[in-house]
Amino acid sequence: MTASIPVITIDGPSGTGKGTIAQLLADTLGWHLLDSGALYRIVAVGAADKSLKTNNIKEICDFAAAMKVVFSTRFEGSILLNGEEISFQVRLEETAELASQVAAIPQLREVLLQRQRDFRLEPGLVADGRDMGTVVFPNAGAKFFLTASAEERAQRRYKQLINKGVSVNLRALLQDINSRDERDANRKVSPLRPADDAVVIDTTTLTIEEVLEAVLIEVRAKMPEATAL
Ligand code: DC
Repeated sequence: MTASIPVITIDGPSGTGKGTIAQLLADTLGWHLLDSGALYRIVAVGAADKSLKTNNIKEICDFAAAMKVVFSTRFEGSILLNGEEISFQVRLEETAELASQVAAIPQLREVLLQRQRDFRLEPGLVADGRDMGTVVFPNAGAKFFLTASAEERAQRRYKQLINKGVSVNLRALLQDINSRDERDANRKVSPLRPADDAVVIDTTTLTIEEVLEAVLIEVRAKMPEATAL
């Protein structure tokens, strides 16, 4: 019964540190990790490869239903799409933009729903995304929603990209982040919002260690039997 397998959800906009926190938490607990944003990004890579537009809904959904995806265990590690290594394309800013557009297609979200739930495997799952606590795993044992100011999130993304050798403009990055957040928060299906029972953490002035500690305290309190740490 997968319903008895513990799940922790970490939602929020990009640049709040949720991907890093989700990975560290999964490592600490020895649990599986679902990077759900990567699934939308992979669909975006596939759609771009086939020159599909966002109104080619049936083709995009057919592709997503049939795609074979293999993640390496590490966050931001290797990603194989139908046998081809695509991790570089997955992390590009243009892929993030297209991912936000395809993520607004209700039929696609439906296609990806079961695929995301299939990540719920023993001994437990940490799920990172936008609607993990609201839609995909509404009965999760602990839910978090991370926020940070748009300026701080743009700065973090800027540093990440510069470190990877990608040349970017901070102001343009901030605009892109704001417009993606607006689309993600205002779409009709599964909009970006905290679950009613999520703990909201503003990470603007916190270090990764401080956020992880706050999350672990909450997790230990809410799921003592699942997280005998
Ligand atoms: O977390 P990310 O930047 O990799 O996500 C890429 C896009 O996918 C983001 O703009 C919103 C969308 N997304 C979503 O709609 N639902 C999720 N659970 C995860 C991501």
